[in-house]
Amino acid sequence: MSDPQSTPGAQGAERNVFSRRSLFRGAGAFAAGGLVADAARAAATPTSTRLAGVVELELEINGAKQKVSVEPRTTLLNALRNHCTPPLTGAKVVCDRGSCGACTVHLDGQPVYSCMTLAADAVGRKVTTVEGLAKEGELTEVQRALCEHDGSMCGFCTPGFVMSITACLERKPGATLDEIKHACAGNLCRCGTYPHVFEAALAAGRALRAKGGK
Ligand code: FES
Ligand code: FES
Repeated sequence: MSDPQSTPGAQGAERNVFSRRSLFRGAGAFAAGGLVADAARAAATPTSTRLAGVVELELEINGAKQKVSVEPRTTLLNALRNHCTPPLTGAKVVCDRGSCGACTVHLDGQPVYSCMTLAADAVGRKVTTVEGLAKEGELTEVQRALCEHDGSMCGFCTPGFVMSITACLERKPGATLDEIKHACAGNLCRCGTYPHVFEAALAAGRALRAKGGK
């Protein structure tokens, strides 16, 4: 089932994911049944089997394979922050319900809300977190521009903006201000640093074009 809430911004591709929302939707329908006999029957179905126990998943995160033991309901955000070694805490837990974008990571290069994506849905796909962007300690143009343009106050939203802007400029280094705003439509900044963030994104685009991007 495709769930647009797992994809921040308006430019994310529609994907077939067994999302956290669809999981809750299923659980709600189950609760509405309300009968013990129904519950007993449901307990024997493959769906309820998926909800129990611990599974071992192999994830590819920032170019390295990593095994994590998690419950099937575990979100990618939870897996990154609490089940990886070392913990990857760059993606932030803020709303934990797909409304702020602080948890944004890339799945196969597309920005997604990791709080609305099951870890199991990331198997076989390339996960990139904000920790995986800088190579050998050198900041990316987006990260550098955010520092230079004072694009962060409390900083809780910053990793999510970095991931959304990075995906946008990878697709199109010459993205316009409107296109950058569109790409960041799923990211909220409660400190109100938007003008600085957008200035930084435009500057990063210019720097990338100067290096040969289009
Ligand atoms: S923490 Fe995931 S969208 Fe807010
Ligand atoms: S810098 Fe504080 S929420 Fe954006």
